[in-house]
Amino acid sequence: MIDFIELRDGLCGVPFLITTTRDPRAEQVREARSLAERTGQTYVERSVGSLTRLYEAARHAGPSGAKGILVVHRDEYTVWLPEGLTFRYHPGMAVHRIKSLAQGGHDPMISAMELGPGERVLDCTAGLCSDALVASFAVGPEGAVQAVESSLPVALTVAKGLRTYECERKDVTAPMRRIRLVAARSDEVLRELPDGAFDVVYFDPMFHEPVRESTGIAPLRYLADPSPVSAALLTEAARVARRSVVIKDRTDGPWAHDPRITRFVGGRKRRIGYAVISGAERSRLVEGA
Ligand SMILES: C[S@@+](CC[C@H](N)C(=O)[O-])C[C@H]1O[C@@H](n2cnc3c(N)ncnc32)[C@H](O)[C@@H]1O
Repeated sequence: MIDFIELRDGLCGVPFLITTTRDPRAEQVREARSLAERTGQTYVERSVGSLTRLYEAARHAGPSGAKGILVVHRDEYTVWLPEGLTFRYHPGMAVHRIKSLAQGGHDPMISAMELGPGERVLDCTAGLCSDALVASFAVGPEGAVQAVESSLPVALTVAKGLRTYECERKDVTAPMRRIRLVAARSDEVLRELPDGAFDVVYFDPMFHEPVRESTGIAPLRYLADPSPVSAALLTEAARVARRSVVIKDRTDGPWAHDPRITRFVGGRKRRIGYAVISGAERSRLVEGA
């Protein structure tokens, strides 16, 4: 039943409860129960009350440490958070970016990756897979995008959405379905991969201070793994990347001026850019390991 995601152990520790919508179908209950069993989280039957009441009742019943409630709907998952926010899958800005690329426009991330049809991308910080979706459009059906997410509720919600979300544009839905999402820590996945397994290895770690807190991104901050890109992770990424490692950062962020990078792609008016490590700089990282 849970065939839309590859689940690994040792994920970012965000415990949560799992339930269904009110008046669920039998399949929803089965799916919620099997999800809880498979992930070691706590299933709670959806009583008539609100999610707030369900959460409070579970807290009084014993210390679960749960950060929120994953709700199994008929065709999507949402994560209810006690802060009054709901995390759900949506393609976000990827729709506009794909539309622009389809019209011959320029996308700074795709330019930084120098991405073309048939290539392979490993996205080590999947989040909502908005960047992975644009990359999946750019590499086309002959290419491949694998995304890795270490926060379990994020990974489950996004993987389900990638499988079920329907967008009016076929050129958004088709690349969405092709993304392979793995619930794991990216360091673990990188370690298992041979040299040059992907053309590009990509990182978009959480910024300490959000650039612009949109309602779409805010709930992600409560569930996300805040780990930065460590030196060891970067070395592994350089080994697995055949052409380049690309890291998203603020134009005034640490990666923009890091001596290990080859170039920083980002317009002067943009607050965000992409640090690229390729060629001699990539080789130096691998050799220095
Ligand atoms: C800023 S978000 C990425 C947003 C993404 N680029 C998008 O377009 O939606 C960073 C994500 O990386 C995840 N993450 C952080 N460290 C990770 C790691 N070591 N392995 C896998 N995922 C990680 C966080 O949980 C979070 O969901």
